[in-house]
Amino acid sequence: MPESFKSIEFKNDKLVLINQTKLPLEEEYIATDNPERIAQAIEKLEVRGAPAIGIAAAYALALCFKNFNGNTQERFERCYKRLASTRPTAVNLFMALDELKKTFLESQNSQDLYSALLERAKELHEEDIKMCEAIAENGLSIFKKKSTVLTHCNTGQLATGGNGTAFNVIKKGFEEGKVEFVYVDETRPLLQGSRLTAFELGKAGIPFAIITDSTAGMLMKDGKIDLAITGADRIAINGDSANKIGTYGVAALCKFHNIPFYIAAPMSTVDFDCKNGDEIKIEFRAKEEITRIKGVPVTRDDYGVYSPAFDVTPAELIKGVITDKGIFHLPFNFTK
Ligand code: MRU
Repeated sequence: MPESFKSIEFKNDKLVLINQTKLPLEEEYIATDNPERIAQAIEKLEVRGAPAIGIAAAYALALCFKNFNGNTQERFERCYKRLASTRPTAVNLFMALDELKKTFLESQNSQDLYSALLERAKELHEEDIKMCEAIAENGLSIFKKKSTVLTHCNTGQLATGGNGTAFNVIKKGFEEGKVEFVYVDETRPLLQGSRLTAFELGKAGIPFAIITDSTAGMLMKDGKIDLAITGADRIAINGDSANKIGTYGVAALCKFHNIPFYIAAPMSTVDFDCKNGDEIKIEFRAKEEITRIKGVPVTRDDYGVYSPAFDVTPAELIKGVITDKGIFHLPFNFTK
């Protein structure tokens, strides 16, 4: 029986987030109306995943005006800048902040600026819920038979405002009898696969096994993967897609083994100002995220570390980008 949980919710005038750094061992919630606390939650990956980051940031920007009586222009600019500085790669963050900027400019002199901004944040959250459903619906056609699927990182409810992107395609596929098993990359170094996707697959009652990231190639060689599907943090207009580090490796392995590799993301993840993957800013994380696991050293902290959080999969490795507006194929003529 599937079990439900809420990953991001606006309740009693506070943002309530499940603390993703504690999952799956503890289900702890952060309830706050402090925008700085939300900015820190984004930085620490207590809330993460491209769409979820955007939604959390939108609520945070609205909360900057709860009980605020000072200079609204100055406050908006400071809060916008702080939130925009949290994580650079996911375009959803900047799109959500820009949406609230439009509302701010329209309502700057209104008596109830907070309500206007909060309303917009809630709308963005609602829109994301709908986009997740449309992505799942559109994605069903990728399953040509009862399939075993490989996924990387986490793209479910935890990563979005709704039921997820790639995860929701898999979930819908399972519900419709088109997916029988999921292999989930553990997703080093922060283990979004073994901690978060496993948590969500377990809650949804979908049979799965966690694999180390380096096991995927062997499974493909042995004919055990029918297709791979991941999310994206930013998609350039030529189809180059940034996603969790290791995604490029999965896509390259798929190409070698003639296995379809799909990306699933809302159209809001397509950055129409970005020509190709070279223009996507890749976030680098603290070296301790490699040298330690949950704070426990596994090697020496003084060793050199190279720690990009994302990589870019070239468009030609992607069989299709599943969006809320349909599935796009090379040459990826995305439409807003
Ligand atoms: O660093 P994270 O955990 O925020 O990275 C998340 C991912 O790479 C997801 O795959 C991506 O945001 C798509 S989520 C629908």
